[in-house]
Amino acid sequence: MSNSIESVSREHRLFPPSEQFIHHATISGMAAYEALCEEAALNYEGFWGRLARQHVLWREPFTQVLDESNAPFYKWFADGKLNVSWNCLDRNVDAGRGDKTAFIFEGDDGAVTQINYRDLLARVCKFANALRDQGIKKGDRVIIYLPLSIEGVVAMQACARIGAIHSVVFGGFSAKSLEERIIDAGAVAVVTADGQFRGGKILPLKATVDEGIALAGKKSTIRTVIVIQRTGAEIHMEHGRDQWWHHLEVGQSETCEPEWVDAEHPLFILYTSGSTGKPKGVQHSSGGYLLFARLTMLWTFDVKPDDVFWCTADIGWITGHTYVAYGPLVCGATTLIFEGVPTWPNAGRFWEMIDRHKVNTFYTAPTAIRALIKASETDPETHPRNYNLDSLRLLGTVGEPINPEAWIWYYTEVGRSRCPVVDTFWQTETGGHVITPLPGVTPLVPGSCTLPFPGVQVAVVDEAGHELEWGKGGSLVITRPWPAMIRTIWGDPERFRKSYFPDELGRNLYLAGDGAVRDSKTGYFTIMGRIDDVLNVSGHRLGTMEIESALVSNPLVAEAAVVGRPDDVTGEAICAFVVLKRSRPEGEDALSMANELRNWVAKEIGALAKPKDIRFGDNLPKTRSGKIMRRLLRSLAKGDEIAQDVSTLENPAILEQLKQTA
Ligand code: PRX
Repeated sequence: MSNSIESVSREHRLFPPSEQFIHHATISGMAAYEALCEEAALNYEGFWGRLARQHVLWREPFTQVLDESNAPFYKWFADGKLNVSWNCLDRNVDAGRGDKTAFIFEGDDGAVTQINYRDLLARVCKFANALRDQGIKKGDRVIIYLPLSIEGVVAMQACARIGAIHSVVFGGFSAKSLEERIIDAGAVAVVTADGQFRGGKILPLKATVDEGIALAGKKSTIRTVIVIQRTGAEIHMEHGRDQWWHHLEVGQSETCEPEWVDAEHPLFILYTSGSTGKPKGVQHSSGGYLLFARLTMLWTFDVKPDDVFWCTADIGWITGHTYVAYGPLVCGATTLIFEGVPTWPNAGRFWEMIDRHKVNTFYTAPTAIRALIKASETDPETHPRNYNLDSLRLLGTVGEPINPEAWIWYYTEVGRSRCPVVDTFWQTETGGHVITPLPGVTPLVPGSCTLPFPGVQVAVVDEAGHELEWGKGGSLVITRPWPAMIRTIWGDPERFRKSYFPDELGRNLYLAGDGAVRDSKTGYFTIMGRIDDVLNVSGHRLGTMEIESALVSNPLVAEAAVVGRPDDVTGEAICAFVVLKRSRPEGEDALSMANELRNWVAKEIGALAKPKDIRFGDNLPKTRSGKIMRRLLRSLAKGDEIAQDVSTLENPAILEQLKQTA
């Protein structure tokens, strides 16, 4: 960690907020920010209670803001009743925004569809009624396995309308991953499509769902599979179980009485990777989550009534939940959604789309920026300078640390040195931004996510939970509960407590799992990356253990260890060290074996988990007590000189073997 800390403290460039933002931003000037922080410090519950009353529509008001009696299972606004879809849709239509465009959808092939708030509400109601007709009711779990599409959001909002709990599974996950999630969530239905278009190709979805349900066998609780016709591909429809979406919608009413739920009613479960075991089902609430989605849209993105907002994340990730499916709608914004990939038909696609749709706020991941920098070097025509990006007002990044070079390129080449870059730090578990600049407030430093979102109490602590002085690297924690926090891990409250509120920290501190340091002068936070066994590859979160289990489930593999190594484009790359049950492969044999294992991992988890490097050894380096020396493997993966003491290794020759990538 120390190297990165040095490189961070070398970053002295400072970008103060522009006059335009200082004058027009919702939160304008450091004094306004500090006043909010002070209000929260003086009266924490009063602060959040005031905001919840101002920003969320309640069917029945809450009387208690925060219930800490069963910490860390906190409850927010617990006796308040609301409906999230009513807040996102009816609220806008009732306020006279029915004609306003809610979504602009651009397909992989460039075809554009728009839907306004009134029609979106009607579609959500029709689908919600269809779900009710299928016997789906409040509290039931519904898996959504769809491409990024208007229908994807309709499905999520329809679940919210009837109080069903959705669990969106990213379309790149395998049948095996679906199987695990179906069983863990005890889901009663899956909403999917015949297939999806990506980068000019057609990819199957329904076939993967069929396989996932088949794998779950008797453990599957799925009664209904609802299928959208998207590609027109030939698919199998299981009699009595599978239904076409467009058939179910026929004759459905365009109104649907919302299910009024308690603020703590789960809105969704989203699976994410941890350092141990299977992915965990992060459970979010309705009231607190919605409040935070709205506040972060208003304060971090400074969303304005006429803004066109574009968050490039898929609805399969938390970013697509908060900043595609819920946040923009609860603010009545217009959101662009894009089915395809940034590099098809060429790497100018994002810039061309910003111009075509006159996007004002653009929010993407550092890995996409780095890939597009690279592409613009090989194909200068795709460089952003060739496009009209005048509509842009604000830029954002999320998902992984952004290196200062990529930040500067984004700021100067895309934002033309006019648009602030908000580097938003948050997690699936936090529900929304927890450390982030505010564009009318915070002087920006490339590579730093700067200061806490107003009200959120963040600190850097040592292993015993003691706060460290600024300038010292440690573990990032959140010291007070916040409204959008994870409520539990679905079906495993004990794992929730142990993972996020470990006893070692002494009191109920939320452990983020990231290393961080505060600048010794400004107190700005810089995130150093995960300090647990979680990898961040292209902004996608993966557990090393998950990939190891996938590898060892292959009958040819005796043992496997997975670590991350730095990568110029994807941030981190997966490097797997593998011992086979047969002799160590070499040359061509090793190459084909490595490919076989990559495909195996893709089948077990999804293509996003394929190891980039695979190295074969006769053994793995272990300590005397038999523990794999992961730090040594990390050095090997990086190609560093071995600085560790290796005298205890049984067979030092394996180090030479493990230096070579197949
Ligand atoms: O390591 C941090 C990194 O992404 C992790 C959370 O991943 P996930 O739950 O998939 O959510 C990603 C989108 C919110 C964090 O623990 N991370 C996220 N944003 C940043 C970041 N690292 C540095 N800077 C960020 N802005």
